[in-house]
Amino acid sequence: MRLENKSVLITGAGSGQGRAAAILFAQEGANIVVFDRDKAGANETVSQILTNSGNAKLAVGDVSKSADVQSAVALSVEAYGGLDVLYNNAAIWSAGNIDNYVTDLEEENWDAVLSVNLKGIYLCCKYGIPAIIETGGGSVINIASVAGLKGSRNRSHAYSASKGGVIALTRSMAIAYARDSVRVNVICPGGVDTPMLEPMVSTPDKFAKFAKSHPLGRMGMPDDIAKAALFLASDDSAWITGVTMPVDGGISAS
Ligand SMILES: NC(=O)c1ccc[n+]([C@@H]2O[C@H](COP(=O)([O-])OP(=O)(O)OC[C@H]3O[C@@H](n4cnc5c(N)ncnc54)[C@H](O)[C@@H]3O)[C@@H](O)[C@H]2O)c1
Repeated sequence: MRLENKSVLITGAGSGQGRAAAILFAQEGANIVVFDRDKAGANETVSQILTNSGNAKLAVGDVSKSADVQSAVALSVEAYGGLDVLYNNAAIWSAGNIDNYVTDLEEENWDAVLSVNLKGIYLCCKYGIPAIIETGGGSVINIASVAGLKGSRNRSHAYSASKGGVIALTRSMAIAYARDSVRVNVICPGGVDTPMLEPMVSTPDKFAKFAKSHPLGRMGMPDDIAKAALFLASDDSAWITGVTMPVDGGISAS
């Protein structure tokens, strides 16, 4: 019960890594707000937690919309008496579809990706960090990507830029809010087997090839990321802030 009675807001918790984290954190005693723009996915996460006798509430909304973010933070505070952990996980990735190489990338698509992946984190922190301070301190976990650490071969320049921005913003926020007892860290996942990755690994051959590109020889699973996030959420990481943590099967080391 490493998060007993902690109030946790997780964005993008209606699928993939966010859902895995919501379920794991609830098993560790946390009270969860599941925040996602996909109502059906978010509902499914909430019901899985409730079925396992955990506590979860639903916040349907868009992280790039200020009013939706304020409502989700307010729900956490009202329902659970404060906010201890803010887990900024929601993002979009669509190489060759919305996103592209800069020379082929439409301005509105650049704006769309940056709006969710970077502005979304700015908004969640703008409204979430004051709630954490009011609660007496806590942990912010941002999800970036190895695409923010290394150059990407994919048609996803807006995504890479957004994730690099998340890493830089994390470091600055870690310094700014350290004396308020707010720790801010960022995880950079490698390839994780979630719906986001499906277009990139659409055949068994492509899946196997991508899995093998990771030095540990397999794709990540949502729980691989959730377990690292649990460490950053809990007091086990009490003296860690401003850290960029790859959880990537070794891919960023190669
Ligand atoms: N899957 C990978 O290989 C991989 C690799 C590196 C980084 N990541 C990062 O991990 C995080 C989680 O991704 P995932 O793999 O679980 O993907 P996913 O697509 O399974 O889940 C993303 C969730 O975010 C939600 N979402 C998207 N835009 C939103 C918005 N504007 N407002 C609210 N919710 C929104 C979606 O509805 C979805 O439920 C993302 O930040 C992603 O960039 C993923």
